[in-house]
Amino acid sequence: MDRRHFIALGTAGTAVLLTGCGGGGGGASTPAVGSVLPPTGAPPPTAVATTPLTTGQPLAALASLANASGTPGTFEATLVAGPTNVTLLPGTSTECWTYNSLVPGPLIDVFEGDTVRIRLENRLSQQTTVHWHGLPVPPDQDGNPMDPVAPGASRLYEFTLPVGSAGTYWYHPHPHELTAEQVFRGMAGLFIVRSRTDPVPAAIEEKLLVVSDLRLAADGTIPSNTAMDWQNGREGNYVLVNGQNQPVLTINPGQSQRWRILNATNARYLRLALTGHTMTLIGTDGGLLRSPVPGLDEILLAPAERVDVIVTASLSSRASAVLQALPYDRGSMGMMGFASSTISLLTVNYTSAATTAVALPGTLNSIADLGIPTKAKRLVLSSGMGMGGMGMGGMMGFLIDGKTFDPSRVDLTSRVNEIEQWTIENRSSMDHPFHLHGTQFQVVSRTHGGAATAEPYLAWRDTVNVPAFESVVFKVVQRQPGKRMYHCHILEHEDQGMMGVLEVVA
Ligand code: C2O
Ligand code: CU
Ligand code: CU
Repeated sequence: MDRRHFIALGTAGTAVLLTGCGGGGGGASTPAVGSVLPPTGAPPPTAVATTPLTTGQPLAALASLANASGTPGTFEATLVAGPTNVTLLPGTSTECWTYNSLVPGPLIDVFEGDTVRIRLENRLSQQTTVHWHGLPVPPDQDGNPMDPVAPGASRLYEFTLPVGSAGTYWYHPHPHELTAEQVFRGMAGLFIVRSRTDPVPAAIEEKLLVVSDLRLAADGTIPSNTAMDWQNGREGNYVLVNGQNQPVLTINPGQSQRWRILNATNARYLRLALTGHTMTLIGTDGGLLRSPVPGLDEILLAPAERVDVIVTASLSSRASAVLQALPYDRGSMGMMGFASSTISLLTVNYTSAATTAVALPGTLNSIADLGIPTKAKRLVLSSGMGMGGMGMGGMMGFLIDGKTFDPSRVDLTSRVNEIEQWTIENRSSMDHPFHLHGTQFQVVSRTHGGAATAEPYLAWRDTVNVPAFESVVFKVVQRQPGKRMYHCHILEHEDQGMMGVLEVVA
């Protein structure tokens, strides 16, 4: 197993970031492994680690999941879910839960048209699944909470990725009520589907950036969620890129790089900005835009979202740049505001060798508008007392249409190939990233201060942020029959039932 990310983390280092107000205090009364119930009442204060994880290491490339198949067009591999002990803080041992002993999990890198067969071996002490976030896989292969893999058991996931599905996806566990914990202990990985006719010139170097959150207590353990975490969503005291704390990426003056960025955190909003530079957006969750959108000073990446951006190093200034997450107020359930402070994610150092920028084609993708909807749905996100009673935080439930999740209930029905318009209305005081399984949708409009603004370009997404007291409208078509999940991707909210079941009928 490749442990180089953790070896980089485990050596002694310099200053560390301590971020956000969610970063303080892990519950000292830690429930047994496998329990999702938070301690009742206010958690006892626990010292949070201040011993640094090494910063300034060269950015590690993600370890790839090797293809065991010799047959062209077929990808076969095994993912082992299980605990892995690593040293992150000197003199301590940290138990992470991992795929193939790696944080993040290994990169899955395939082509459109490929048939993928991945065997999951569950060596955790609780049930798990692998969910292929954003990919158009059949419902029974999608790792839904209704299809758990028991501890000690294994199963095969098998699907074929259609032509046209090239994009930046990811995989993570999705077991009933246990997703948040399995992800914050380390289980998530990037899943890239490539096109054999990718219009982005191969001369543009690609960098893959998986952003995750880690909360470590001073004794090196990863604490369980506090009551506050169950309300607002957990944020860590380290924000890692490819499992590293503030690593360094190098770029040549004048060079363009393609960065695919995944927000694999449970609840942290990343308002991304690169000091001294703008970014060109070329793709979102489910693939490339019709044409590049240049000149962006910042990009908001909510939990579970991905972007594909081009960064071009200046030829003149040659000062190092920092990829930052700027302050963002996502609201909260309590009296404490949730505006974060600026965080450094990654340093970009210039080399001395100038490179000529590679031009991007004016047209990247032929995204067609999904067309005129013939059905409309309206979903309301809220918090309060729902049919499911108290949330796990012991205070409020997180609801969709006034209900908490029931795996045996069908909440919504759609017809295969029917064009629908969904309006997601957020009546709560905090943002919720809304995610729908099984397909990619096209955002039509979003409100700002209650006034609708048309989306400026067509983009394929499977997750969209719905800010507090605002709404988002999107068009969507489901292509396969079966049950699909939709939910808030703040994983603590999902686990507490901010999720519903859509049944797609033929
Ligand atoms: Cu990434 Cu249903 O989740
Ligand atoms: Cu998903
Ligand atoms: Cu939420």
